[in-house]
Amino acid sequence: MAMPDLLGEAFERVQEEVDSAFDAFLPVPDDTRAPLIEAMRYAAIGGGKRVRPLLVVATAELFGVGRNAAINAGCAVEAIHAYSLIHDDLPCMDDDDLRHGKPTLHKAFDEAVAVLAGDCLHALAFDILTQADTSTDPFVRAELVATLARASGHDGMAGGQMMDIVSEEEEYDLRQVTRLQQLKTGALLAASVEMGAILGRVPPEGRTHLRAYARDIGLAFQIADDLLDVEGDEERAGKALRKDEAQGKQTFVTLMGREQARTQAEMLVDQAGRHLASYGEEARLLVELAHFIVKRDH
Ligand code: IPE
Ligand code: IPE
Ligand code: MG
Ligand code: MG
Ligand code: MG
Repeated sequence: MAMPDLLGEAFERVQEEVDSAFDAFLPVPDDTRAPLIEAMRYAAIGGGKRVRPLLVVATAELFGVGRNAAINAGCAVEAIHAYSLIHDDLPCMDDDDLRHGKPTLHKAFDEAVAVLAGDCLHALAFDILTQADTSTDPFVRAELVATLARASGHDGMAGGQMMDIVSEEEEYDLRQVTRLQQLKTGALLAASVEMGAILGRVPPEGRTHLRAYARDIGLAFQIADDLLDVEGDEERAGKALRKDEAQGKQTFVTLMGREQARTQAEMLVDQAGRHLASYGEEARLLVELAHFIVKRDH
């Protein structure tokens, strides 16, 4: 008998739920703001793999959290992620024309709309987290907000983007590249796991194994993205590839070469799985998700 495709089905379900949640969060108004909301919808609905929402949901499931709360928190992280990609693609940053197999937001609309749509998705994320159907407990809501805020700003994603820009001009060593990647990509992935645990009312001292898992997959995820940039198929990835070297970006791949970078990513993923050993079969989805992260082709 064929094994049910646990991960594939989980991805499909979460993709549908996130799409319909964003659809509900973003009705298009009947006034001159309409193009802005259309742009937010263009970036937030469809396209992405939804790895971050799936991390929230799969972690929350370990602790019996209601589906709706977990999807809301997943949408909040995904709104930050979508905004980060809009800004990442701008001419002043990576200057990309293709995202999710379609024109980048500033190409489909214009740069001003792209900046504003990013701003608004950023705000939307925190709006969602303060809603009562994310959690009825104001302490839980405040902790969710604090966790996502820290992972998004100068101590998280945006700080990593700054280090990424500087890496085009300055020589980084392995320690600096690791730090760059932990902030740029690792922070939001770690926040996703953390938010699942917060919803599950797991106290900080009970999150040690989950945090260790999140740290390892965060690093592995960006190594896989950098490998994809060198080895991937543009059609499948839905974005322009072979850009990192041309732009002088420093990554694990430029620093240690493809073979060693892949070995490192695989080692991290195995290690990530072992951190969850105490959860047993319950954590199978998180373990499979970790393996997907290095095997993915998009
Ligand atoms: C791409 O992230 C950008 C990085 C942080 C490496 P994803 O690969 O999760 O992007 P989508 O949302 O699935 O397109
Ligand atoms: C972007 O990293 C990470 C963000 C915080 C948006 P990349 O610049 O490598 O992502 P891609 O390759 O454009 O998706
Ligand atoms: Mg970039
Ligand atoms: Mg980019
Ligand atoms: Mg990349």
